Amino acid sequence: MTILLDGKKCAQHVYQQLTQQIEQLKEENIIPHLAVIIVGDNQASKIYVRNKQRIAEQLKIKSTTIALDGDVSEEHLAHVIEQLNSDADIDGILLQCPLPEHIDTQKMLNLIKPTKDVDGFHPLNIGKMVLGQQGMKPCTPAGIMELLRFYNVNLTGKHAVVIGRSNIVGKPMAQLLLQANATVTICHSQTKHLRHHTSQADVLVVAVGQSEFIQKEDIKEDAIVIDVGMNRINDKLTGDVSHHSLEKAAMATPVPGGVGPMTIAMLMKQTVMAAQNRRK
Ligand code: GUN
Repeated sequence: MTILLDGKKCAQHVYQQLTQQIEQLKEENIIPHLAVIIVGDNQASKIYVRNKQRIAEQLKIKSTTIALDGDVSEEHLAHVIEQLNSDADIDGILLQCPLPEHIDTQKMLNLIKPTKDVDGFHPLNIGKMVLGQQGMKPCTPAGIMELLRFYNVNLTGKHAVVIGRSNIVGKPMAQLLLQANATVTICHSQTKHLRHHTSQADVLVVAVGQSEFIQKEDIKEDAIVIDVGMNRINDKLTGDVSHHSLEKAAMATPVPGGVGPMTIAMLMKQTVMAAQNRRK
């Protein structure tokens, strides 16, 4: 029987801990405050942002959304970020991606004050993560690590294969698995003989963005399969791993209800961490 790694349950556990920390902060007159910048009209982004706001509200984290037109200039967006950087009432800044093509995304992310970078995308935070130092981490890989810890998965000596090399998921995922003593292989669109690699994985993390990209034949018997995919097919959410493959796994994340809730939980956790830093 495959054990489903329940992201909703694990996220609830995180929220219980956060609720206590938020109450403690309230006694010190600190209410964590997250600012979300959304540019343009991307429907998926709007849904993500709404979900994040809903959870923030439930936790009594203040959230402010700044919606900018799709044709906003880099200069104006930079000005908005800088204002939020210097606003003492704002703890976390999230710049929802993707941004319109005329905007240099990394240039904008680099402007976010590292201590308010609750998404963990600033080069300083990425550098700290690679060095194993404390800092904000990209939320999806951090959430996957939290989920594996929740289910007592020991990664030491395991062969972890990550498919995907994005800055948001693949690259940071590989780093965090390495820090947890796994032996890590990163595969991507140019990798030859992909199945050769995936079929050797004790832990397989799939972040490709293609529905049912991984089939039963691609995975090793009793592997741990982490599906980061969120593909909307005819209004139905599907992962990057076919349902049939899951039967072969020892543990697997469902879609929906696996990695997705953990990403939001980590965002909330890092917003609370940023608010706790006001004490310093
Ligand atoms: N777009 C898709 N996922 C994310 C995320 O985790 N953070 C931001 N800022 N944008 C995203």
